[in-house]
Amino acid sequence: MSERKRVAILISGRGSNMKALVEASQDPAYPAEIALVLSNRPSATGLAYAEGAGISTCVIDHKSHASRESFDAAIDAKLRPSRIELVALAGFMRIMTAGFVEAWRDRMINIHPSLLPSYKGLYTHERALADGVKIHGCTSHFVRHDVDAGPIIAQAAVPVLEGDTPDTLSARVLAAEHQLYPHALRLVASGQAHVRDERVIISAQSMAAAPLINPPLR
Ligand code: GAR
Repeated sequence: MSERKRVAILISGRGSNMKALVEASQDPAYPAEIALVLSNRPSATGLAYAEGAGISTCVIDHKSHASRESFDAAIDAKLRPSRIELVALAGFMRIMTAGFVEAWRDRMINIHPSLLPSYKGLYTHERALADGVKIHGCTSHFVRHDVDAGPIIAQAAVPVLEGDTPDTLSARVLAAEHQLYPHALRLVASGQAHVRDERVIISAQSMAAAPLINPPLR
């Protein structure tokens, strides 16, 4: 088996997507190992899970840095000696500087709770419900300096159901995130996903051809 890629996961809170990545990486055949979980918040509840799973953790509190540049430099100074090859943002709620994003270009991925490019930013489920869309979802993408933008690796669509609230819809999307993000990291870590002309090309992967229609045809 080829070498597993060393991945750092950056979190700010609950870390349920981090947990999904950690669980996937527990399969020895998975092409990535989680070498580090880093949080910008000392109170992030996801840290305890990572410690329990035997993963190195680190807190770099953005509040103890006077500028974004100094905060990002501190993160970079942790990632490099840890021989990190890929960075996975998982509910990491800080905007990174252009310098940091460029340094990790095509080696840093994110998960976002909408079908990008729709609903960038916060309150994605509230806005999708307000617009009355029938299909919503989540996206994993390579990180660029523009927030919630960058070449799309994979997306999952979920139906919006009658009577959905932001809570019920976000729970349905989150369950999809937990399937999608390990899949996207697998594609990147295994070398099956490549960026070409700011699009992701997926090799050696069968593509789903059936439409998701909601409400269903019958
Ligand atoms: C997830 O829904 C993730 O997609 C979202 O934050 C949540 C974190 O949950 N990220 C963004 O909105 C990034 N723009 P988690 O901490 O349980 O993984």
